[in-house]
Amino acid sequence: MSPTLRSVVIGVGDFLPEQVVTNDDLAKVIDTSDAWIRERTGIRQRRKAVDGQTTSDLATHAAEKALAQAGKSAADVDLIVVATTTPDLTFPAVATQVQRKLGAPVGIAFDVQAVCSGFVYALAVADNFVVRGQAKCALVIGAETMTRLMDWTDRSTCVLFGDGAGAVVLEPQPGQGTTADRGVLGVALRADGTKQDLLYVDGGPSTTGTTGYLRMQGNQVFRHAVVNIAEAVIAAARSAGVSLGEVDWFIPHQANQRILEGVARRLGIDEARVISTVAEHANTSAASIPLAMAKAIADGRIKPGQLLLMEAMGGGLTWGAAVVRL
Ligand code: ACO
Repeated sequence: MSPTLRSVVIGVGDFLPEQVVTNDDLAKVIDTSDAWIRERTGIRQRRKAVDGQTTSDLATHAAEKALAQAGKSAADVDLIVVATTTPDLTFPAVATQVQRKLGAPVGIAFDVQAVCSGFVYALAVADNFVVRGQAKCALVIGAETMTRLMDWTDRSTCVLFGDGAGAVVLEPQPGQGTTADRGVLGVALRADGTKQDLLYVDGGPSTTGTTGYLRMQGNQVFRHAVVNIAEAVIAAARSAGVSLGEVDWFIPHQANQRILEGVARRLGIDEARVISTVAEHANTSAASIPLAMAKAIADGRIKPGQLLLMEAMGGGLTWGAAVVRL
């Protein structure tokens, strides 16, 4: 029997801008409090890119760390997929800017726009290139400067988001076609455009001609997040052929501690198996899953060979989940 090609994660990297903004810092400029933010979201602080520091800068730093961990150089990279909703420019794609900044050779580079679900979408897209033999060394990056989309007079949104980037390197490796294989084992992606009004940005090149600000009906998003994510998690596990009981670590999109707990409760997942980093960097949209993954690998919780389940929901609405054996 010919072996099954799998997209295997061989390196993970993260980058958070230096500037820390605590809840108390925000309480000095808007009508909020550390207690309100912690209680409703679990967030303690977020990072903010300084003027002149762009999404592609954050993405490039994370990519360099992931390549170093993978033992690869920029010269090896033949595919770059960046998940972002905060590009440096309307075009070109952040991915091509990362390619230039890394000094990677001519190859394939483009962005995926699925907002907070972006990393799961980008991973699924890159997986398809890798398993078809169209890429030998793929960078999948989630990178955002969400603070640039905030209306700093709207306390119901501006306290929730932060900046950062995370990256993984994928390479094709032969597997046996079983759940013991390393690599991406199953994905489930979803979108429902009728729910746009729940979470969107009120500007863009073909409407206002401006960047716009993030608008959200928080309680509605919350409700959809818990129900939708749970369905996608079950579908991804089914497509991988694993049970939720076999999963070592759940790596959710880091939007809000209460969403993380709500999804875990709905699925009967012990919270001790859920990676949570939202307190440290708030909601970094497409960057949050690889940021959480990098942290839990660095601190020794996630180990090679373990089964990971990533899940996210964001503007669109979009949502999805992916099962990966490290
Ligand atoms: N500080 C203090 N008070 C605030 C703040 C704030 N930062 N923001 C809102 N309030 C007030 C409101 O004005 C309201 O006051 P009122 O009762 O006098 O009118 C009160 O708090 C309650 O407001 P709600 O919006 O009902 O608060 P809720 O309990 O729903 O919490 C929150 C809001 C945290 C946004 C919640 O709805 C939520 O977590 N939603 C999920 C949204 C999310 O995480 N989105 C991320 C993007 S999507 C994704 O990544 C999944």
